[in-house]
This record gives sequence, structure tokens and C-alpha cells, in this order.
Amino acid sequence: MEGIIKIDNLTKSYGNIKAVNNLSFKVKKGELFSFLGINGAGKSTTINIICGELRKDSGTVLVCDQDVDCDDKYIKKKIGVVFQESLLDKSLTVYDNLKIKAALYNITGKDFIKRYDELSSLFDLKEIEKQPIRELSGGQRRRADIARAIIHNPEILILDEPTTGLDPGTRKKIWKVLNLLRKKQNLTIFLTTHYMEEAADSDYIVILDKGSIIAEGTPLELKNKYAYDMILIYNISEDEIKKLNKPYIRIRDGFKIEIKTLEEATELIIKNRNLFKDYEIVKGKMDDVFLNATGYDLEVE
Ligand SMILES: Nc1ncnc2c1ncn2[C@@H]1O[C@H](COP(=O)(O)OP(=O)(O)OP(=O)(O)O)[C@@H](O)[C@H]1O
Ligand SMILES: [Mg+2]
Repeated sequence: MEGIIKIDNLTKSYGNIKAVNNLSFKVKKGELFSFLGINGAGKSTTINIICGELRKDSGTVLVCDQDVDCDDKYIKKKIGVVFQESLLDKSLTVYDNLKIKAALYNITGKDFIKRYDELSSLFDLKEIEKQPIRELSGGQRRRADIARAIIHNPEILILDEPTTGLDPGTRKKIWKVLNLLRKKQNLTIFLTTHYMEEAADSDYIVILDKGSIIAEGTPLELKNKYAYDMILIYNISEDEIKKLNKPYIRIRDGFKIEIKTLEEATELIIKNRNLFKDYEIVKGKMDDVFLNATGYDLEVE
């Protein structure tokens, strides 16, 4: 089976809680892979096992064809991780945090300076390099966090909610750098996020619920399966919308109706021309995929 990360029948419990339950999936080299799920679904537990921080109960996890239980050093060379809880030492400067991490991989002296300069220009570290981590804003800290994670040039970057709490501009900047790294170095990115628009750009998505996969596929496959297009109809009364004989949801200034295909929409509009004075057709989004796959239902009134 091809794949830079291969997981088979992975299981991990904490006491009575089955955090990961017979999980199998693979991540291909160079892809942006999104690992989604509500709080407590088992994402961080899986990540901690992949990067050798946590022992599994059963199953196999291979990174670059090596079993994670066998060769910790090899795995740590291949993977860079930004954990949900930052690993930066808050009392040390950005520069010193990176220097210490680099030394763990024997990147010292001139080699370190060269690598530091590369990362500093990528992540705009110059103006914050002498500041202790505790004085940084959330966005500045994340930049330092990611730079630290890839100081040793890993093949895989695992990001556990890298942009949570960041403003849209900062998120955009971070993604610009990540996309550049993907393009230039064919870096594989394993991402967990609660921002569905970030997942929409993935090559492949796995959605987890209670430690098991409930949906997986490319964004397009998932949208086709879980997200329907909608017609939003404005300037219409509830009595009128009922005449369409379709489940509807009240929205601001109107109602929305789920449609399976554009042909269905066209037919509905032509047959009920007088009701469609002001309307728009909205394509299904990743938000809908997530909500529908994890159990959100369209209200039927
Ligand atoms: N160290 C631990 N001891 C006991 N239970 C734990 C521990 N870590 C996680 N759990 C439990 O395992 C389950 C999965 O947790 P995990 O942190 O993997 O979820 P997650 O998908 O990363 O959630 P979030 O989106 O909130 O980060 C949860 O029920 C959690 O309470
Ligand atoms: Mg988590």
C-alpha cells in the first residue's frame, strides 16, 4: 500500500474511554491531508501516536515504512509537529528556542545560522527573534512554533489546529508559507482544524467521530455526498414557501431549500415562476459536509 503514513486498525483507550477505535487510513506523500472531527473525536491522540509521543494499544502505524514503535529517532527525523499545546519555552527568545531544537538534530554553528536565516525570512522572524515567547501575540507565537517544527527539514509536517484563535489575515499569511513549502519541497501536511474553509483545499479528508472514521474522501467527493446545494428565496411568505412542498429552513429575510441537482432547481423555478422573484443558488460547502456527516439534520417544518 503506497503512503507516507499508513495506519491500520489503530486502537487506544484511556481507561473506559476508547479515544481511537480500530482506525485505518493512509496519507500520501506531498498531499495536504485534513483530519477533522468534533472536540474529543480522537485527533490529538492519533497524532501523538503517529509522532511517537504516545503508545498505542494495538494496530500498526508506519511512517515512511517504519513502525513508529521500532525507531523513534527515525520517526522524529521524518516528522515535524506543531502540537495543540505549544512546545516553545516561554522564558526563552524565539532565536534560542529554534537553536535548542536544531541542536537536538545536530544542526549547529554555520548550518544552524543558514537554516535559521531561511526560516526567519519565510516566517518573518527578524523583528521578534530577540523577544521571549511569553511576550508574543498568538500569531507571532504560531509562526515561531511552525518554524521550530520544521527546523530539521522533515518530510511530514503535522499541524494540530495551527490557526485556532488567529485573525483571518494572520491565518492567510501562515497558509501562504505552508503552501510555498508544499510546492517547493513537496512537504506532506497532516492538518487538524476546525476551520472548514482550510480543509476545503485538502487533497484528502478524513472525518473522525468517537475514534472512528465516519466519512472520508476528496473535498469534492464529500461535498457530493454530504452537502447539498441550496436555493435561498427572499421576499416570500411562509404560506407561499409551503406551496413548493419541500422541507425548508427559515433564514434572515427568507427561506432556504435543499436541492440535489441543478436540474431539480431549474425545474422547481420554472414550475413556480411566480414564487421566485428574488433568489440565489448557493453551492454546498465544507461546513455542511462536516455538520451533515457528524449528525446535523436539515430541519423539516
Ligand atoms: N491523557 C488523557 N487521559 C484521559 N483521557 C484522555 C487523555 N487524552 C485524551 N483523552 C480523551 O480521549 C478522547 C479523545 O481526545 P483527543 O484529545 O484525542 O480529541 P481531539 O479530537 O484532539 O479533540 P479537540 O478537537 O478538542 O482537540 C476524549 O474523550 C478525551 O477526553
Ligand atoms: Mg485535539
